[in-house]
Amino acid sequence: DIPKLQEAFKQHFRIGAAVNPITLNTQSELLKHHFNSVTAENEMKFERLQPVEGTYTFTAADRLVDFAAANGMGVRGHTLVWHNQTPQWMFENREGSAVDRETLLARMQAHIETVVSRYKGMIYAWDVVNEAISDNSGELLRPSKWLDIVGEDFIAKAFEFAHAADPKALLFYNDYNESVPEKREKIYELVRSLKEKGVPIHGVGLQAHWNLEHPSVDDIREAIERYASLGMKLHITELDVSVFQFEDRRTDLTEPTDEMLARQAERYRQFFQLFKEYSEHIDSVTFWGAADDYTWLDHFPVRGRKNWPFLFDGNHRPKQSLWDVIDLARS
Ligand code: G3I
Repeated sequence: DIPKLQEAFKQHFRIGAAVNPITLNTQSELLKHHFNSVTAENEMKFERLQPVEGTYTFTAADRLVDFAAANGMGVRGHTLVWHNQTPQWMFENREGSAVDRETLLARMQAHIETVVSRYKGMIYAWDVVNEAISDNSGELLRPSKWLDIVGEDFIAKAFEFAHAADPKALLFYNDYNESVPEKREKIYELVRSLKEKGVPIHGVGLQAHWNLEHPSVDDIREAIERYASLGMKLHITELDVSVFQFEDRRTDLTEPTDEMLARQAERYRQFFQLFKEYSEHIDSVTFWGAADDYTWLDHFPVRGRKNWPFLFDGNHRPKQSLWDVIDLARS
């Protein structure tokens, strides 16, 4: 009998997985056994929920929320405002020119109100704004239509609209490269200023798309300390440990090497050790998938290259990483 991952960490934090309409079928037994939280990999994004102005398509998102409810799982909502996967109509009027600030804010408000109220009480945390910080040195916010048309308070507005729609949901700012020192400080600065202005923000999401070498455990610890010092909750929102370095464009492997799997187990053990240490601040750890038969990394950064980033293999059997993480939970 395989011990349940969610049980092992019950005292510390929820264990979540990102799912899509296919994996909800193919991985359902694994999900029910080991996970007590789910997130829609794509189905709650803007383009999926409101592809055409005023026409909402909730079928796939509802199915995920129903699956969670039927199995006693929580749902993390992802995501309300992002520069990516947002339909063109949002930013344009009928003639195809850019809308003004008031129009865009009204559309943003309508979307957030509709979506967040629909799932009121069923989604414990929302990624309200995703990836708004720039990766470029010396630039705080990422260039986007939100920023161009509304100005930098598009972020604060999104949090206010979400809070009005579900005052009990925890509201998160979510980003990647969250532990790279320069970006870490930019995220810190954004969150600090939102808090200072009284904006209803409750936490920082660390996406945690990591690999066998990067980032260092010390850099992650530093990020956790920084965000926690602002009184923020922390959620690990999109965890995976790629067996390739980002620069590595190799495509010849058909299975992971023993060395990769051993190193991956060591990394997972260190990460969960850290999460456990900070479990006063961290109450949810979500993987961006569940098992190695499906991961977005199979298409990124090299299209069609297989990756093996999770605790379970392609047949949903535990990898060394799973045993090490369970062992850590008990120590
Ligand atoms: O559904 C269409 C399909 O009809 C079409 O034939 C096919 C052709 O490319 O595309 C399909 O859509 C793809 C979609 O995933 C569903 O598989 C999109 O092209 C593809 O871009 C999209 O990728 C998603 C990506 O976000 C978009 O930026 C990934 O699945 C999803 O895992 C990924 O998730 C993001 C988080 O939201 C934010 N943080 C980073 C994370 C990983 O990139």
